[in-house]
Amino acid sequence: MADNDNNIGDKNGLKEEKEFKRYLITAALPYANGPIHIGHLAGVYLPADIYVRYLRAQKRDVKFVCGSDEHGVPITIRAMKEGITPQQVVDKFHAIIKSSLEQIGVSFDIYSRTSNPVHHKTSQNFFLNLYEKGLFEEKESEQYYDEKAKTFLADRYIIGTCPVCKNPNAYGDQCEKCGSSLSPEMLINPRSALSDATPIKKKTRHWYFPLQHYEAFLKQWILEDHKEWKNNVYGQCKSWLDNGLQSRAMTRDSNWGIQVPLPDAEGKVLYVWFDAPIGYISATKELISNWEDYWKKDDTRMIHFIGKDNIVFHCIIFPAMLKAHGDFVLPDNVPANEFLNIEGDKVSTSRNWAVWVNEYLKDFKGCEDVLRYVLCSNAPETKDNDFTWKDFQEKNNSELASIFGNFVNRTFVLMHKLCNGKVPVLHGDVMDELDKALIEDIQSAKTKVENAIEDFKFREALFEVIDLSRKGNKYMQEKEPWKKVAGNDDAGNNQKLIDNCLHLCLQLTANLAILVNPFLPFTAKKMLHLMKVVDKILDWKNAGSIKLLSVGYSLRPPEILFRKIDDKEIETQIQKLKSGLVKPENADTKTNEQAMPTVNSQELTANDQPLKAQIQYDDFAKLDLRVGKIVEAEKVEKADKLLKLEIDLGFEKRTIVSGIALHFKPEEIVGKQVVVVANLAPRKMRGIESNGMILMAENAAGKLIFVNPDEDIDAGSGVS
Ligand code: MF3
Ligand code: ZN
Repeated sequence: MADNDNNIGDKNGLKEEKEFKRYLITAALPYANGPIHIGHLAGVYLPADIYVRYLRAQKRDVKFVCGSDEHGVPITIRAMKEGITPQQVVDKFHAIIKSSLEQIGVSFDIYSRTSNPVHHKTSQNFFLNLYEKGLFEEKESEQYYDEKAKTFLADRYIIGTCPVCKNPNAYGDQCEKCGSSLSPEMLINPRSALSDATPIKKKTRHWYFPLQHYEAFLKQWILEDHKEWKNNVYGQCKSWLDNGLQSRAMTRDSNWGIQVPLPDAEGKVLYVWFDAPIGYISATKELISNWEDYWKKDDTRMIHFIGKDNIVFHCIIFPAMLKAHGDFVLPDNVPANEFLNIEGDKVSTSRNWAVWVNEYLKDFKGCEDVLRYVLCSNAPETKDNDFTWKDFQEKNNSELASIFGNFVNRTFVLMHKLCNGKVPVLHGDVMDELDKALIEDIQSAKTKVENAIEDFKFREALFEVIDLSRKGNKYMQEKEPWKKVAGNDDAGNNQKLIDNCLHLCLQLTANLAILVNPFLPFTAKKMLHLMKVVDKILDWKNAGSIKLLSVGYSLRPPEILFRKIDDKEIETQIQKLKSGLVKPENADTKTNEQAMPTVNSQELTANDQPLKAQIQYDDFAKLDLRVGKIVEAEKVEKADKLLKLEIDLGFEKRTIVSGIALHFKPEEIVGKQVVVVANLAPRKMRGIESNGMILMAENAAGKLIFVNPDEDIDAGSGVS
């Protein structure tokens, strides 16, 4: 690994501040081969969105582009496994991802996709541009080929015995058991993960991009000119550059992807990491006709938000491609985040150890900002971090609800009680030190938040926002306006003191709405509603002012901004996470989604389980599958996962114990038709004899779904 600290102290060197006219903000294109999880949000989409919302509030000219990454081997594998086309795979997940990001408030100007014709054209032209300059090296090499599946195999899809620990199921790039990093040639008895066939070596021709020619340029551009990049990013770049760059194949043998635009290139497509970043260009093209301003003018500031596994592609390969092409701007910064673990364990989509955004949105309707808050305040900005459901609850209940929400709520309650629901006057004659200190706090919060955001320190920025509301609470506690009602002070100033306190609390509330808006846009909106003001108030330049709400203006009655989240909800989530978990021994593909890429790995992720070994018809014919109907269902005592089912098979009723209790309530499944493996040998579970098994399907998020006939059919009917 890179030495991450090498550039400390050398930052903010001698570089002159450059004036930028427009911003182009990109967020890594997610692979459309599964839904997105909270790690994606914390690492990439939330920080990008916060930054963009901040820039927009500052009235800067900004475009925010993203889209689905729809090519690459993992998608073809998933399609093969599910018996559908790659296009069907990407159509499904593109829709899910797009909707998840939209609902959680990620405000792209465009969310496109790399299967769009514009993108194919743009990528092919890019390739041709480099080709015509004679920049590619055309080379022949031998690669593993699966004759049964008729496809070349990416490293991850070759399985064999580990030469180090003899694990029989090591992958072509790594042994998960002993951790050795491998190459397919090192495996003993290699076999294809697709068909189980023994792969053969086959000659193939590809176009290589000589990264080593750009080494000097990259060293200057990154190591000298961009010392301000985050340590984790700078460090990884330095390590790649110190190790020396090599030519890298920019084409692949596949029938899914963008055709190589050359004669004699049938069955060859562009390498997914060649075309995907060009997706940023295509998306901008799709968005606006003056896209060239954003891509070709020097005073554009382009910033790529990514996760750490994308660093080499965005800091080295893509910039080298852009440089080679010559027409385009380079990124000014690439603020990559580290990874978010869950309950102390690395996210693994194949083991289903993840919190899926689409599931969260269903389970916590109206709590979009809570997730945004927790993920931002715990963002893995400098090191890997951990998400736990307990912490989620704690942050909601004792920060959002008890500090921020409580302050706004108290302000509104008291203003209605003590000031007739109207913004009271600020009486200059009775202002005291506490009032003045609060005004100063309001003004300095703006600068603090601003500086932190500009520095990509979103956690710190958000902390400052919450801290301002904390100061508001403290101020109110010290002022105790509710105590002033009964008596009257010597000078008869009590109402004036109440007015001042609530006047300032209301102005503070308006400030909080502005400052919190980039982070918690749904909350900011609710606050505008309470204050009966329009979006315009959210202009960043309004922050720091205590003249945002006019005296005498009547405001709405209080509404709770954040409800409390109770223990039961949290328990349910923890259970859901644990019950969805596919145990390592059952997970036949364990991917290393978050691993640092090696130069040779062709594809970085694949949350697909390869097909099991082939069987003969006779094997299948041994199964006796029957349609049955659930007539009774009850929980099995002391076994939270088990339900005891009575199944009517027409010719008999029998008991089956099924591990679905975490997914279904007994009463909701009575009457359902199911498919039963009727000739499975009996097995005792918790003292109950189970006579068969019911078939269940599992979606990408680990949810179980009954497999049953399309129409009502007699119990006992055979299935084949
Ligand atoms: N799909 C890649 C990933 O999820 C990211 C692609 S970013 C792009 O890791 F720049 F290539 F688009
Ligand atoms: Zn091993």
